[in-house]
Amino acid sequence: MRTLGIETSCDETAVAVLDGDGRIEFALLSSQVETHAPFGGVVPEVASREHLKALPVLVDRALQSAGGPPELVAVTAGPGLVGALLVGVRYAAAFAWGRGVDFIAVDHLDGHRVSPFLDLDGGPARDAPAPVLGLVASGGHSAWYLTGAEGSIRLCRTRDDAAGETFDKVAKVLGLPYPGGPGVDRLARLGRASGTLFRQPRLKDGTHDFSFSGVKSAAIREVRARGLEGLGEDRVGQGGRDLMASFEAAVVRQLLKPAPEFVGEHRPVLITASGGVAANTLLRRELEAVGVALGVEVLLPPLGLTTDNAAMIARAGQLAWRRGRRDDPCRMDVNAREVWHPPGMRRQMERRRAREQGSIAPPGEC
Ligand code: KG4
Ligand code: ZN
Repeated sequence: MRTLGIETSCDETAVAVLDGDGRIEFALLSSQVETHAPFGGVVPEVASREHLKALPVLVDRALQSAGGPPELVAVTAGPGLVGALLVGVRYAAAFAWGRGVDFIAVDHLDGHRVSPFLDLDGGPARDAPAPVLGLVASGGHSAWYLTGAEGSIRLCRTRDDAAGETFDKVAKVLGLPYPGGPGVDRLARLGRASGTLFRQPRLKDGTHDFSFSGVKSAAIREVRARGLEGLGEDRVGQGGRDLMASFEAAVVRQLLKPAPEFVGEHRPVLITASGGVAANTLLRRELEAVGVALGVEVLLPPLGLTTDNAAMIARAGQLAWRRGRRDDPCRMDVNAREVWHPPGMRRQMERRRAREQGSIAPPGEC
């Protein structure tokens, strides 16, 4: 199934075409970073309008460059910014309906989870073994998942800020451009980390959940106390570089801390990391070291596929199609909740929940 993938959940308009083996035939992305930069973050309405402008142009280019016409359309339907998602979903649904090809709504996080299995050098997608232990760390999410043949379960998550959001917020106070993660990464490479500057949070409920708000506030306090506020990458000096190295190390340490226990408990055959923060140099290095120490292979996405892209959405759509999923382009909807269920699943989830609680299930099928 040659697959057209469309991703518009946030501030990148991305379009890709994959052949039936998951080989990337075409991938192009129109970034809105410069449009949003003056605001220091993504402005949802502006994002929607930019998607509206870029999407038809990118899809036309994709159709001209791909090896043939797509037989399946896969689009991110959540979670994300509602207006931005709507542009992609309606466009994709109309495209699939108009051409009479199959249509699949994809969970953005499923996309991130399959990104390590894609190849940017023209190779086919690698088949995923089971079970896989995977970290997804981006601007909106930070969680560990266990993925098997039946799907994914979340093992732990952040209770407050996402890891990428934490990098972005501290970077902003330091005067780095949005998104701040790459700038923090560059500074940290030139700095020396202190292991004692930032304390690790202790959640009292026995879960492995993360909390990044403490390290974020402490880092912002340090930036201000050291007179580094607003100085930007070139003027923060060695003090700023050392501070960012300590801050980055505290975030990465927290992200990787549950890995040994999850490996012991679930015996994965593979550990992956994905999402924008999986581009972080220290995280990649430390996760490789964790894999070596625990004797489990680590698979990381190519740097070009860590942030939001449409190849991962097309691949997640192909895998869902292989499992028998088909969505109706005339009945698609989107929502921007953290927990997103494909169309048709929502009613089933409500019924299951009602059964578990012993109450009356809502009538009818979705
Ligand atoms: O996956 P993504 O493109 O978008 C979301 O789904 O959120 O992730 C973007 C996030 C931003 O917060 C950005 O600062 C972060 O990924 N990021 C990084 C690096 N590159 C991007 N964080 C740390 N180090 C990096 N090298
Ligand atoms: Zn993402």
